[in-house]
Amino acid sequence: MNTIAAKASTASIDFLPLHGTDYVEFYVGNAKQAAHFYKTAFGFQSLAYAGPETGVKDRASYAVRQHKLTFVFTTPLSSQNPMADHIYQHGDGVKMLALMVDDATDAWEQTTQRGAISYMMPTHLQDEDGELVMSGIHTYGDTVHLFIERENYKGVFMPGYRKWESHYNPTDTGLLYVDHCVGNVGWNQMNKWVKFYEEVMGFRNILSFDDKDISTEYSALMSKVMSNGNGYVKFPINEPAEGKKKSQVEEYLEFYNGEGCQHVALATDNIVATVTALQNRGIEFLKVPSTYYDDLLSRVGAIEEDLEPLKELGILVDRDDEGYLLQIFSKPVEDRPTLFFEIIQRKGAKSFGKGNFKALFEALEREQDSRGNL
Ligand code: FE2
Repeated sequence: MNTIAAKASTASIDFLPLHGTDYVEFYVGNAKQAAHFYKTAFGFQSLAYAGPETGVKDRASYAVRQHKLTFVFTTPLSSQNPMADHIYQHGDGVKMLALMVDDATDAWEQTTQRGAISYMMPTHLQDEDGELVMSGIHTYGDTVHLFIERENYKGVFMPGYRKWESHYNPTDTGLLYVDHCVGNVGWNQMNKWVKFYEEVMGFRNILSFDDKDISTEYSALMSKVMSNGNGYVKFPINEPAEGKKKSQVEEYLEFYNGEGCQHVALATDNIVATVTALQNRGIEFLKVPSTYYDDLLSRVGAIEEDLEPLKELGILVDRDDEGYLLQIFSKPVEDRPTLFFEIIQRKGAKSFGKGNFKALFEALEREQDSRGNL
């Protein structure tokens, strides 16, 4: 069996309308330094802060923003806080994938009625800038989906936060919004989570890749891409597949100590400029052999970009029926080989770079091998 593009949905009413990703929240060992790293290296701007100075006693949170992309870095202030256990178990990682909704109460009711486990009942948060309603459900591993309703909130981020003014404001790198977030799940767990996104959240499976699509000489994985109704929120789900050696998903599961978010794909409309800026600021990317570029144009057809800068930076290209896309993957952004980022520019293509999987996974295996984990 090979790649399957799922048939068009026949579902009529979207019971969970989503407007996109509201923010991604990371639990980290040191939020102040993490925020500084994402400002410096990725070009985020200071947005908001919550902590003891704003009446939040048990944690410190720093929100940073770049265009429509908002990241929050949160750290516990004592070992009694359950967040401390999360960091002990997983290292720094994605805790919340927060989604924009019109009605956070309805989103919680619709999903919990369909079997979701509640993380947070609908909660009304208020300050002088209005009211924000938030609710949440559990997904794979210790990861959570929050539903954020902010129509009646005019403040800088959310109640409990104050504007974070900083004298240090590095320029942005052209990162625009979250394109997709990938979850790694355990052996034989992919279909369970596909069913969860279908039944509990009304998503549909738009693409499937099996171990024939995603395999090298040594390792394999399987993946299904889940999308919400309007396509603004896409969650590919990976599980390991049998291979001669340990796959990248197995390495992740071992070091994250369970299921979790593998990578967040960030969109740009000028990938050469964005990746040049990121590299100049110290972000390290996976490299494919330069032979990848030898027959690139015969594989993907004509593209608008010059080949030379793509080759120099290591940017990959793939084409589907609707256009093409350019993409590149960072090395893990922490010491555990867990979370990394993808930078993606879509030029019509709605797919995920299947044509690059082999070159990419071979590059990943070289990295895994260098860590002694292959
Ligand atoms: Fe991706």
